[in-house]
Amino acid sequence: MPIRQLRKLAPAPAAAIADAWLERTTAPLADPKLDRPRWCREVLCELAFPQYAGNWETAVADASLPAGLRLSLAALDPRNVTLEPEYYAECDDAAFQRVKPLLWLWYSFDRLPVGGQNVDLGVRLRRLLAPHIFKRCGERFKAFQHVEFSFGYNIECGDDVVVHRHVLLDDRGGIVMGNKVSISDYANIYSHTHSIVEQADVTNAPTILEDGVRITYHATVLAGVRVATQGMVGAVAVATKDVRPYHVNVGIPAKSVRVKPNAPTDSWEATRTSNTRKDG
Ligand SMILES: CC(C)(COP(=O)(O)OP(=O)(O)OC[C@H]1O[C@@H](n2cnc3c(N)ncnc32)[C@H](O)[C@@H]1OP(=O)(O)O)[C@@H](O)C(=O)NCCC(=O)NCCS
Repeated sequence: MPIRQLRKLAPAPAAAIADAWLERTTAPLADPKLDRPRWCREVLCELAFPQYAGNWETAVADASLPAGLRLSLAALDPRNVTLEPEYYAECDDAAFQRVKPLLWLWYSFDRLPVGGQNVDLGVRLRRLLAPHIFKRCGERFKAFQHVEFSFGYNIECGDDVVVHRHVLLDDRGGIVMGNKVSISDYANIYSHTHSIVEQADVTNAPTILEDGVRITYHATVLAGVRVATQGMVGAVAVATKDVRPYHVNVGIPAKSVRVKPNAPTDSWEATRTSNTRKDG
């Protein structure tokens, strides 16, 4: 197969505006005392409703304005919206309320013309937000648009991790990603599961994606699965059990169809004995 490296594009005509906006907007995040809900609201208001940036509070309280407008303005403040993980019994409210404004900005930016498909600006903004959301975030993290999380604060991520469009990172029980992990479009990584008898019976289990793992398009990894070093989960597969190092697992449930040709010779037998859970 041909090697196709990503192209380098010339800077956009408005690149200097984007640089200045990004620097000014994200600089306050360095302050641990930052009023994050207010900061999130001000950033979104400037982008979505700049005419109300200077009088947001008055406009929200102004009964002569249409209710839909007041509601839309109010929703720029994360305190006026609820996110699904807040309803989870085990949500660490202090931890979640700290990251919620950043998650709300992340999701809302993706739904504005300035965000969404705007790869360069979006990737740079998310790279600056992620270390303030995740438990650990390595260098050069890259996320495309419409990635969703559960808590966000239960994610650990190594260097050079890439998360593509419309990925769900359900970190309810924790997700640990090593270096150079790649998660393709529309993939789902879960870390919680429900009893088949009682829906409210929830089991959280950390899901581990070791160094060099690739989870490909539309694949799903279930809670508690470990995809070992350089393992790969094929398109649309459902990984219900551990994936051995360098193995390519496909199908539902995902099974190994091959070992990558660059695998160390002992990658099959050595890992079979070291795994504590059944693998696919
Ligand atoms: C996992 C994948 C890379 C396997 O490719 P491969 O090693 O060349 O495997 P093959 O095409 O030789 O397939 C081996 C067998 O598995 C089957 N298979 C391959 N991918 C499958 C999939 N996603 N689901 C079900 N079966 C699959 C093939 O039909 C073949 O079965 P057969 O032996 O009965 O004919 C590939 O199928 C895939 O899912 N690619 C996703 C796209 C991708 O590369 N994404 C990268 C991230 S951006």
